Amino acid sequence: MPLYEGIGLTEKQAVVIDIGAAYTKFGFAGESGPRCIVRTEVKCPETKQVKKVLNYSSKEDLYDLLVEFIHTLYFRHLLVSPKDRRVVVVESLLCPTLFRETLAKVFFRHFEVSSILFVPSHLVSLCTLGVSTALILDVGYVEAVLIPVFEGVPVLHAWQAQPRAAQAVESSLKALLLNENSEKEDFPDSTIEDIKVRTCFVTSFNRATQLEAVQPPPDVVYREGGTDTFCIPGKVREAVHEVLFEQDNDQTSISTMILDAIIKCPIDMRKALAENILVIGGTAMVPGFKARLRDELKHLVQQPKYASRLALKTFKFHKPPAKENYVAWLGGAIFGGTDVISTRSLTKEAYVKHNKVPDWADLSYNCWEEKMSL
Ligand SMILES: Nc1ncnc2c1ncn2[C@@H]1O[C@H](COP(=O)(O)OP(=O)(O)OP(=O)(O)O)[C@@H](O)[C@H]1O
Ligand SMILES: [Mg+2]
Repeated sequence: MPLYEGIGLTEKQAVVIDIGAAYTKFGFAGESGPRCIVRTEVKCPETKQVKKVLNYSSKEDLYDLLVEFIHTLYFRHLLVSPKDRRVVVVESLLCPTLFRETLAKVFFRHFEVSSILFVPSHLVSLCTLGVSTALILDVGYVEAVLIPVFEGVPVLHAWQAQPRAAQAVESSLKALLLNENSEKEDFPDSTIEDIKVRTCFVTSFNRATQLEAVQPPPDVVYREGGTDTFCIPGKVREAVHEVLFEQDNDQTSISTMILDAIIKCPIDMRKALAENILVIGGTAMVPGFKARLRDELKHLVQQPKYASRLALKTFKFHKPPAKENYVAWLGGAIFGGTDVISTRSLTKEAYVKHNKVPDWADLSYNCWEEKMSL
């Protein structure tokens, strides 16, 4: 915390928020980790039902959910007043316009924050490494999204996204467990996630090619709610993450996303990108994930489909200075601690005057005269 905060000699520290489909990371700029990582959901005061913030039905519904959710974040987790504090929002480049506009409305109109700085998650993740070129793969909850960044500029036409992340793993685990435990009718999502994180892993490339033939790892007895126990077979523990790496009908998987993105980039970028891969997102924290990805890449690049188009031999991975699930948040916290926060933020005055959030995908903000007049 700045020494003289509260008596107006320095500006109050900005808050940094990364709203993920499963978990939201929230904390102060300039700190090394978020103050809290909480589920992106709110409990309805009347019905006591838990609702995911991203499962909104309309703009008004999203507004109400965000007000409730962000209120909890400020007043239960951070314990600071949102008024007159700057905000850094770490967002995906593919974030829907409806979501970002509603989020801006909630921050400016309801919480009266002084400014918002929207930063793209893939780009700011690079701040944590101090490099300007990398291929960033975010394997979060709903999708794995990959965007190469070259000399600080996202190579947008090479982006890749696939629904291969925690949600796919969890539904595969649920199906396998229901199959094994016929007396069970359903498993709550939180139990499935707990089983996934505590007992499952990504198997090696060699074992994956002959999963049926090899000796499975030991079974685990899982205790649910203190008394109820059931068995998680070793072969389920080993097989659930295969949905990420198995090639589908279009012959795509997480590993082909990397190679396809590299092919879409100009030749002189390719080696630099292959030697600067950064994998972020909670699903990349599963034991064995990175080793498997490296082996898959080494194998795929020798296959005829890629061997004729790519002459790459080495793939190198960066080790970020934080746990994978909050690397993007940390990037936002580093970025939010620089001068950029005062020069590039959208201020409350500008928002109230134009009632608009600048957007890179909107042509009116890519035209010089328009930009000058706003
Ligand atoms: N140590 C761990 N081992 C395995 N899985 C983990 C671990 N920690 C978190 N996860 C999983 O990572 C997922 C959440 O990752 P993350 O926080 O990156 O998602 P998100 O940012 O909410 O989603 P998205 O980026 O898709 O919007 C959860 O499903 C969680 O179970
Ligand atoms: Mg995320």
